[in-house]
Amino acid sequence: MATLAGHLVDFPAPGTLRHRPDTVLRIDAAGRIEAVEPHDGPAPRRLILPAFLDLHTHWPQWRVRGRAVIPLLRWLDQVIYPEERRFRNPSEARRVARAFLQEALRLGITTVVSYATIHARATEVAFEEAEALGLRFVSGKMMMDAFAPPGLEESTDASLAESEDLARRWHGKHGRLFYAFSPRFALTVTPDLLQEVVRLARRYDAYIQTHMAESPDEIQTLRERTGATSYAAYYHRASLLGPRTLLGHCIHLSEQDAELLRRTESRVVHNPSANLFLHSGRFPVELLDRVGLDFGLGSDVGAGPSLSPFEVMRDAFYLNPLSPARLFYHATLGAARMLGWDRDLGTLEPGKWADLVVLEWPPDLHDEPVETVLSVLIFTGGHQWVREVYRGGERLV
Ligand code: GUN
Ligand code: ZN
Repeated sequence: MATLAGHLVDFPAPGTLRHRPDTVLRIDAAGRIEAVEPHDGPAPRRLILPAFLDLHTHWPQWRVRGRAVIPLLRWLDQVIYPEERRFRNPSEARRVARAFLQEALRLGITTVVSYATIHARATEVAFEEAEALGLRFVSGKMMMDAFAPPGLEESTDASLAESEDLARRWHGKHGRLFYAFSPRFALTVTPDLLQEVVRLARRYDAYIQTHMAESPDEIQTLRERTGATSYAAYYHRASLLGPRTLLGHCIHLSEQDAELLRRTESRVVHNPSANLFLHSGRFPVELLDRVGLDFGLGSDVGAGPSLSPFEVMRDAFYLNPLSPARLFYHATLGAARMLGWDRDLGTLEPGKWADLVVLEWPPDLHDEPVETVLSVLIFTGGHQWVREVYRGGERLV
């Protein structure tokens, strides 16, 4: 049985910080937290936090982050689609997926939710890399059966058949690899495909991930093409909304849209770095709070330039002045809730998986209270202090 001693810090509710100084955490043979007990005397001065979840990212966009072209649709055409075409080549995919996933782990992320490209083999190669590295990984083949750019076209039937085949082989594997049907967004999929995705996701009890209401140019195009005035209502008509559906962005929402997301228990993912980078708009936290919608954080690499959860939290603050404790909540337990995993992850409590990040307490902050330390970590690249990362009690970094 393994033990770790230090200052335990976790975030059991939005804005709530729990600090247990000089504490021992015991891990059982299965990799779950068995007990949390006072240490006999002072424990090492280091921080033990729940590991981070990145709820929305694109491993195939790793090499092209930081290329400033706006707005969204122009960036997709000029930067992203040319890069995604390259993943027809599986060895290219393996190299990039591995580099990306290794970096995520090093930064303290043990759960990655990522899109792949339209290529089934590239999608699978990333699952293999996550399997080998020991990560929790939720992913799926990108689906684009309409208005796809040259070289990334696919038929509705092939998109569905390849996705279903991958779901059958990967969803639930080892209890840490899961499938997410991944229609890119309303502009590149047919309503028929969306309806079929809903049926398949139900059949396999898998996830669905897509993008929603990210940018004014995207919403304008949706309106011109379909007449839809509400992105949320458009997805609802296809029965896409629900508790297994992760919706990236959700920036431009009306009061009724937010109500609809709450009523359908849809899962909201906020990608602040990407929103700042593409100048997409400001995520409406006050609206979500008013209707009672929770959310998790995502890096959205490559629109987000960094995988670091600390930089993502910092950018969330620049959009909305949330407390450090609340920012950490949305990067840990709040994110776990979006996957329905809050009984297993997100805080440091007996019975949960020992997914942990151990950080050195920065020497300059030796006499500061933990609230101050967390704030400084968010704004000064806290990932540099990450020393150890555990997934299910197993030390991976
Ligand atoms: N909307 C559709 N595809 C994408 C993507 O790859 N990145 C972002 N940020 N938004 C999208
Ligand atoms: Zn995205």
